[in-house]
Amino acid sequence: MKIDILTLFPEVIQAYLNESIIKRAIQNNLVTIKVHNIRDYSLDSHKKVDDYGFGGGQGMVLMPQPIFDAVDALRTKNSKVLLMTPQGKPYHQKMAKALTKEQHLIIICGHYEGFDERIRTLADEEISIGDYVLTGGELASLVITDSIVRLLDGVIKEESHEYDSFTENLLDYPVYTRPVNFRGMEVPEVLLSGHHKNIETWRKQEQLKRTKERRPDLLEKS
Ligand code: ADE
Repeated sequence: MKIDILTLFPEVIQAYLNESIIKRAIQNNLVTIKVHNIRDYSLDSHKKVDDYGFGGGQGMVLMPQPIFDAVDALRTKNSKVLLMTPQGKPYHQKMAKALTKEQHLIIICGHYEGFDERIRTLADEEISIGDYVLTGGELASLVITDSIVRLLDGVIKEESHEYDSFTENLLDYPVYTRPVNFRGMEVPEVLLSGHHKNIETWRKQEQLKRTKERRPDLLEKS
């Protein structure tokens, strides 16, 4: 898979991509991620990317030209263009799973007070990561990228995401490591038993119990 991210703050994105699991996935050629500065596509002599909004009221608005030119330069017939916006479709795990099937994603991060409405016509999908407003789409693009990359073949062990929270609309079961007793808090007996069937049953029960307590809305969905 290839992911192109269009942003005014490439360093912010690159810093995250240079660490941990995503970094390893890139090094192992399981995904190619390129970060592009929208400003580099500006045809303005001062590399301007924003201007005052018509009608007054809001502050600076991202202009269409640099983003249209960037998408024109990167898009192929296999590309899917995602626009990060609080007005988009609420993002969830099933969307992450579906996006792993794409060959090429182009992710556009909005910034400032907003972007020219015509930029929406470039998007195959508009995505929101939650009902709150961020200063830009950078964090949203990283949320989307991270959630997709960890699901790609070979990035983490298949078993590690088989029971992820939200897979089958259930939250994940609790996990423990050493020591067995920490400040009086014990690891559940069953996990020390080595009895795989019982462990599996316990985990499933914990998933149901947790989901019922914390996210009953998820159970209604399943
Ligand atoms: N840009 C600003 N806020 C956002 C949100 N909640 N989701 C996606 N992109 C955004």
